[in-house]
Amino acid sequence: MIQNKNILLGVSGGIAAYKACALTSKLTQQGAAVKVIMTDNAAKFVSPLTFQALSRNPVHIDTFDEKDPAKIAHIDLADWADITLLAPATANIIGKLANGIADDMLSTVLLATQSSVYVAPAMNVHMYAHPAVIANMKQLDSWGYHFIEPGAGYLACGYVGKGRLEEPESIIAAVAEHQGRGDLFSGKKVLISAGPTQEKVDPVRFFTNRSSGKMGFALAEAAASAGADVTLVAGPVSLETGNKRINRIDVVTAEEMYQAMHDHFHTSDIVIKAAAVADYRPKQIYGEKMKKQPDDWRVEMERTQDILQSLGEAKKHQFLAGFAAETTNPVEYGITKLQKKNLDAIIVNNVAAEGAGFGGDTNVVTYVNKTEEKEDIALRSKQEIAKEILKLIARDMKDEPK
Ligand code: CTP
Repeated sequence: MIQNKNILLGVSGGIAAYKACALTSKLTQQGAAVKVIMTDNAAKFVSPLTFQALSRNPVHIDTFDEKDPAKIAHIDLADWADITLLAPATANIIGKLANGIADDMLSTVLLATQSSVYVAPAMNVHMYAHPAVIANMKQLDSWGYHFIEPGAGYLACGYVGKGRLEEPESIIAAVAEHQGRGDLFSGKKVLISAGPTQEKVDPVRFFTNRSSGKMGFALAEAAASAGADVTLVAGPVSLETGNKRINRIDVVTAEEMYQAMHDHFHTSDIVIKAAAVADYRPKQIYGEKMKKQPDDWRVEMERTQDILQSLGEAKKHQFLAGFAAETTNPVEYGITKLQKKNLDAIIVNNVAAEGAGFGGDTNVVTYVNKTEEKEDIALRSKQEIAKEILKLIARDMKDEPK
């Protein structure tokens, strides 16, 4: 998986830079072409000449050191790479990448490359646990960067704990394994709905619900990271999408969501309905702001379309998954919805459980497929839950007779 690959090795300024020498040597021994970019600080730990000798290629440090007038060095390097490996990745380079800062050769190439990027962090145990570093890593993870977690052990700073750069052999094995696996959803078209809908009653008032869209967005990011082309139909939420593989369509009402989902349904392979769609909308929408009256105001509500059910009726080759938000007997109710709406899987969400449901960053769910096999996914971040759900969908799609 490494042989004949162009590997760009980014070395940032930590003591673990010395391990990147062995990494360079092993990569070249395995038949990869290696070019090294160092930060100024990395060059204080290890001489660029060491990397030049081991990679048999010039080492790049300065963005403006343009060796060949016919090429722009940082773009040329970025385009050359099949794989980019950042090892060791310090808290600083992780922070720069997560915030789009390009102020030296390495950080600039990292923004310019379209290759798969693997990040092998190495830093002090407390730095690795700092909320800023965790947030930056999460951000990169959601954009599809692949992390090779540091090992635990004796650190150069004297502490014992997590933060030690993974051994070169393990880094290569992790990259090779990932490259060999290919992306779970490579070539697949995934359609996801997320967030609430808003149903207007007059120009300043509407009915909605507490869905934040975080679960659906996490699914979209995870599917895109797994190689899918994603269409994300998003209700009104205050979330950003970073991945270039996500085509986002913003909608407001259940009616608009229905339209957008059906517009993209026929060309999709996997459809996941994570949105909390309004079941009712005001029968009458007032053109002017309603003035208050001395009496009660009764708003008559009418049913919206059940989008998921209509997709279940239109289903051909698609794998269709829904969510069920419940407060009692979640799995039982979930299975009823799965059958009624002709789904392949339902993700049941006990919104009353600790750490689950609307708004928060974590969730607890049970995945049930159409043969009623159940998988509990215990309390964890919505990003982690999303990855687990996608793995289960991939498993069930594989089992499906063609
Ligand atoms: N759903 C939908 N259109 C609606 C209502 C729900 O597509 N008008 C979808 C949701 O996106 C979710 C699934 O149906 O994937 C289940 O939603 P939920 O609110 O749990 O259930 P309902 O079917 O609305 O049933 P109830 O409110 O009676 O529990």
